[in-house]
Amino acid sequence: MQKIAFNDLGAQYNHLKEEIDAQIAAVLADAHFISGPQVETLEQELCSYTGRKYCVTTDNGTDALLMPLMAKGIGEGDAVFVPAFTFFASAEVVSLTGATPVFCDSEEDTFNMDPASLERQLEKVKREGKLKPKAVVAVDLFGQPADFSRLEPICRENGLFLLEDAAQGFGGAMGSRKACSLGDCSATSFFPAKALGCYGDGGAVFTDDEEMHRLLVSLRVHGKGAMKYDNVRLGLNARLDTMQAGILLPKLHAFDAENAHRNRAAERYSEKLRGRFTVPTVREGFSSGFGYYTLKASGTEERAKAMDALKAAGVPSIIYYPKPLHLQKVYEPLGYREGDLPVAERLTRTVFSLPMHGYLTDDVIDYICSVLNNI
Ligand SMILES: Cc1ncc(COP(=O)(O)O)c(C=O)c1O
Repeated sequence: MQKIAFNDLGAQYNHLKEEIDAQIAAVLADAHFISGPQVETLEQELCSYTGRKYCVTTDNGTDALLMPLMAKGIGEGDAVFVPAFTFFASAEVVSLTGATPVFCDSEEDTFNMDPASLERQLEKVKREGKLKPKAVVAVDLFGQPADFSRLEPICRENGLFLLEDAAQGFGGAMGSRKACSLGDCSATSFFPAKALGCYGDGGAVFTDDEEMHRLLVSLRVHGKGAMKYDNVRLGLNARLDTMQAGILLPKLHAFDAENAHRNRAAERYSEKLRGRFTVPTVREGFSSGFGYYTLKASGTEERAKAMDALKAAGVPSIIYYPKPLHLQKVYEPLGYREGDLPVAERLTRTVFSLPMHGYLTDDVIDYICSVLNNI
């Protein structure tokens, strides 16, 4: 068996080489490295793909999350509800604005934010009266959108701004609504390992709100007003490079085929591993982009055994994520204790992710499954 990659970007490049090389050559020839025409083309195509009215590409997914919070004026004294089981950036951006992240537990089956836990945490914040509830960051973990059918009404009733963290969500959907079109505003990441990734850092914000779009465009370039040297607010330098936009265009054109391939690969994994491990659950009426294929073991020991066996057989596997955010050292001052968010904590002790990408072969899947089934 040849070397198995967790995410085979080389196989993708071989497949799209001609188009990607042509894009890179065009950017080099044009020398319009910042805000070149490929950036606007990409934004238009991303709007068509997701069904959102506006797209503002950014330098990475973290700034794509931060900018809408800045645009809403969220800051000190505000509470922003975030799942505890996610990548750190989902909460980090809240803290960067000066607001306080309030951590919510996860659903045992989809791993996404549990709307019932959100309601409990919201009531607690209201009862304590120290923070003003302002927003929710709902993460589309591992490719499946969070349950926006329940989160949207809660946010509407309570006047909360709902930000979709679709950094891992691109390719997923809730009914006919694609990831990056859920909630009031959505942010995604084009980090190379993502389902739609560039060859460096990149991201994008999506919204249907004209005023939000105007503010995002300003925040992306140092809080510009009528032009770059007219500064009307504090902003960032958060533009996506022209080169990365050019590279993303052929990758976006190939995205649906790769997405279908990842879904078939996930199905094959699940058929062979169901009963041995808990395989991913896709909620009825939802679809996943399967940027990640994540299994749940019965406990920490079983997970360690599985990962050791994979390693010995030359198969990479990764724990996303080994520590819940409410127990991270940086959030010690918030006073959370072990046991506060039991599902999120249990997930960090039991999940592990297998190789997944749009060029994974049946032979490799079968080999990985045989290693796991022969432990
Ligand atoms: C859920 C989630 N949110 C936010 C981010 C941040 O994206 P970036 O790495 O592009 O800043 C990531 C990326 O890893 C992520 O997985």
